[in-house]
Amino acid sequence: MIEKNTAPETLATWKALRAHQKEVGKKSLRELFAKDRKRAERFSVKACGIRLDYSRHLATRKTIKLLAKLAREAGVEDLRDRMFAGDHINTTEDRAVLHVALRSAQKDRFRDGDQDCTADVHEVLDKMERFVQAVHSGEIRGYGSRLPFTDVVNIGIGGSDLGIEMALKALHHHRVRSLRVHTVSNIDGTQLADVLEQINPRTTLFVICSKTFTTQETLTNARAARNWLLETVGEEAVARNFAAVSTNHEAMDAFGIHPDYRFGFWDWVGGRYSVWSAVGLSVALGLGMKNFRAFLAGGRAMDRHFRRAPPAENLPMLLALLSIWYNDFFGASSQAILPYDARLGRFPAFLQQMHMESNGKSVRKGGKPLRVPSGNIIWGEAGNNAQHSFYQLLHQGSRFVPVDFIAPDEGSSRFRDQHRLGLINMRAQAEALAFGQTAAEVRADLEARGMSRQEICALAIHKVHRGNRPSTLIRFRRLDPKTMGKLVALYEHKVFTEGAIWDIDSFDQWGVELGKKLAQQLESAG
Ligand code: F6P
Repeated sequence: MIEKNTAPETLATWKALRAHQKEVGKKSLRELFAKDRKRAERFSVKACGIRLDYSRHLATRKTIKLLAKLAREAGVEDLRDRMFAGDHINTTEDRAVLHVALRSAQKDRFRDGDQDCTADVHEVLDKMERFVQAVHSGEIRGYGSRLPFTDVVNIGIGGSDLGIEMALKALHHHRVRSLRVHTVSNIDGTQLADVLEQINPRTTLFVICSKTFTTQETLTNARAARNWLLETVGEEAVARNFAAVSTNHEAMDAFGIHPDYRFGFWDWVGGRYSVWSAVGLSVALGLGMKNFRAFLAGGRAMDRHFRRAPPAENLPMLLALLSIWYNDFFGASSQAILPYDARLGRFPAFLQQMHMESNGKSVRKGGKPLRVPSGNIIWGEAGNNAQHSFYQLLHQGSRFVPVDFIAPDEGSSRFRDQHRLGLINMRAQAEALAFGQTAAEVRADLEARGMSRQEICALAIHKVHRGNRPSTLIRFRRLDPKTMGKLVALYEHKVFTEGAIWDIDSFDQWGVELGKKLAQQLESAG
């Protein structure tokens, strides 16, 4: 289906925002805070237990009004409702976009044409639950083993790996202690070799995770793991030590996956949005099904908020609108995600795929070229590590990089005081980025330290921080499975909103195909 939507730059509000940027671009954050003592309060929203402080943005009340108007004018709410209704909004693949159904309550009704998606989702979830419990209890064991499984190896890549790795790391403090979960994704063999060194073949469950079951990296690693198992245990182990998650039932059959160890999902789930589906099997094994269901409940809570809140109070929409503000009106091409909890260390990488595979497009839905910059470059790292690595560029570089700081109030480890230090650092960085340090302040500081006039003259300019570098603070009480679900859904809907405004199909990924095809041709050519 070809959609005839509007080019973003032709929207009246887009034009109004261009003019408005000229006014706001001249203001400084120091000035904005000085004028409004309650700015931090006024430019904060709380919903679903998540607090978003966007006061350190180059934005006034009028900016937010205009951005909210832009969302309306671009039809974000209409497209959102169509997504939830199961319309085929992934137009280039003619597919529904129903990852939201994966976290539905049983009473919800999600349909893709005649398919009752809610019922199908819950059937698979129940099967996962039985499987996970049987693995944990030792009722299901590896071939020839009297002991329960001790290790799970998830073999998958992209959306069949990143979410799993991210969630397991983030929720390490909620793990099932009797089971270690490893992830293998790259094709070069190093990860697999390293994991095989640590595990006992009889007590290891391999989970092959691939929506298509045709991905070269995953199949290469899966075949190598199967050969290793055949050599170390024997043929029968394949049916007992391998589980698989895929939409491709024939391929799971051909690999020799036992029917009880197969978990399906559907083409209306995009790979990068699939951690909520059976793709999350390794997460459920690693954290327990109760925690996995809490993760789903978190996603559901954010869905409710996204569906109900008006744009100016809607957390995902606000994140998207601010991102568009800088991307399209200030020329910022990248955004840094900086969590102040090392357990969220893989969150930036997970968000990278979510954003860049979804919105790294330059053709609009109807086939016309997109004439405004789209697809932010997303990058980041756990906060303190990043401070000692690339913050120099954030503070004084010639590039303009808006930042999302993310942190729980309470630490995720037993070293609570150390977490407090992390939070203090985050606050200090946000202030330094926003307010900087003027030449006069630098000079006064150097004078107080007893430097000579000449020394001050030479050094002062290098120490100036221009400030005016925006950041959002995303805060919540603690990093638990439910909150993690909220955070993931928060960014999913942010990406959705951006794509809706840019009028692109955020749910296809044609740009990854050519390279794959050429690699296959090169392989066949020897
Ligand atoms: O190459 C990109 C991609 O198609 C992603 O969209 C996907 O998450 C990944 O490959 C893995 O695909 P699959 O789950 O089918 O193995």
